[in-house]
Amino acid sequence: MAEPLYGGRRPQLLAVDDDDLNLMMISRAFQNEADVVTKNSGLDALAWLAEHSADLVMLDLRMPGMDGFDVLRAMKSQPQTADIPVIFLTGDIGVELESRGFTEGATDFVRKPFVPDVMRQRVRRVLRYEYLQDHLEQEVHRQTDLAEQRLAESQALFKEMAMALAKTIDAKDKYTHGHSERVAAYSQLLAAQDGEDETEQEHIYYMGLLHDIGKIGVPEEIINKPGKLTDEEYRIIQSHTTIGSSILKDIKTFPGLSIGARFHHERYDGKGYPDKLAGEKIPAQARIIAVADAYDAMTSSRSYRKGLPQEVARSEIVKGRGTQFDPHVADLMIALIDADTNFTMRDHEEET
Ligand SMILES: [Fe+2]
Repeated sequence: MAEPLYGGRRPQLLAVDDDDLNLMMISRAFQNEADVVTKNSGLDALAWLAEHSADLVMLDLRMPGMDGFDVLRAMKSQPQTADIPVIFLTGDIGVELESRGFTEGATDFVRKPFVPDVMRQRVRRVLRYEYLQDHLEQEVHRQTDLAEQRLAESQALFKEMAMALAKTIDAKDKYTHGHSERVAAYSQLLAAQDGEDETEQEHIYYMGLLHDIGKIGVPEEIINKPGKLTDEEYRIIQSHTTIGSSILKDIKTFPGLSIGARFHHERYDGKGYPDKLAGEKIPAQARIIAVADAYDAMTSSRSYRKGLPQEVARSEIVKGRGTQFDPHVADLMIALIDADTNFTMRDHEEET
């Protein structure tokens, strides 16, 4: 049994020759494996092609009226026929003619009088090649779509996991519900205000979202202690920066994610922790997160006080400009506050 010629379906062939005997021989040669339509002039062939589609055309080179080259040229000029492979049938094939045929877009040549089996082999080879080529393009598209879909899925998974982690952190601290997400959102706003592109804004968002992740390693009694902390308790609280950084630093697909966790309590004047970095030595993203963190801490309610009004938070940021905060980032925050006259930046609903 012959192997499927064209992806399992019978291919449609068009044979064009002014010699009816040749057309009959072609029809007979392919009767078991293809549908063959025969036409005995170029004009008839083109008229048929205008209404039908063919997988391959066998075209006599020498015909009265339009010859094979004329028909080929007409086919190449129409989008619906330009890509159909054409095999020239010819008796007198010289090098020059062959070269011209290939230049004008012929796929192959078959000598007349032809041997049916040779003819079949040539046609099969061309059809198989055409089929593979079409199939390859489809396969490349399919694999590309699949890869894009997987990338989108893994990005979505990362976002959901990061959100879940942020909620885990916030759940430990009964006073700061939603703190991580708000700090992330403010940090992103500040980065946008500073002219950072969307990719960098997104990086800062996730650094902000997970800035307090080290609190996972700090006992709840200390985090939620209402009174004054002892020196030892204060030291333990401070360790959330280094714990957070060691949790995040090995995430290879997001290098730098640990920056927010480690450096968000550094101060611009060098009096922060854990590394007492000052000024530009503090990574830029951490200088942004520090301001976002302070703004949210001030405007959030605690058990012992309501969230501060926006103008108080504003004056604290002005006061900390150049000491606690990077002056440039403080200015960006002040501009955001001044633009936010209705105090909508901080969502107060949960506290009422
Ligand atoms: Fe913190």
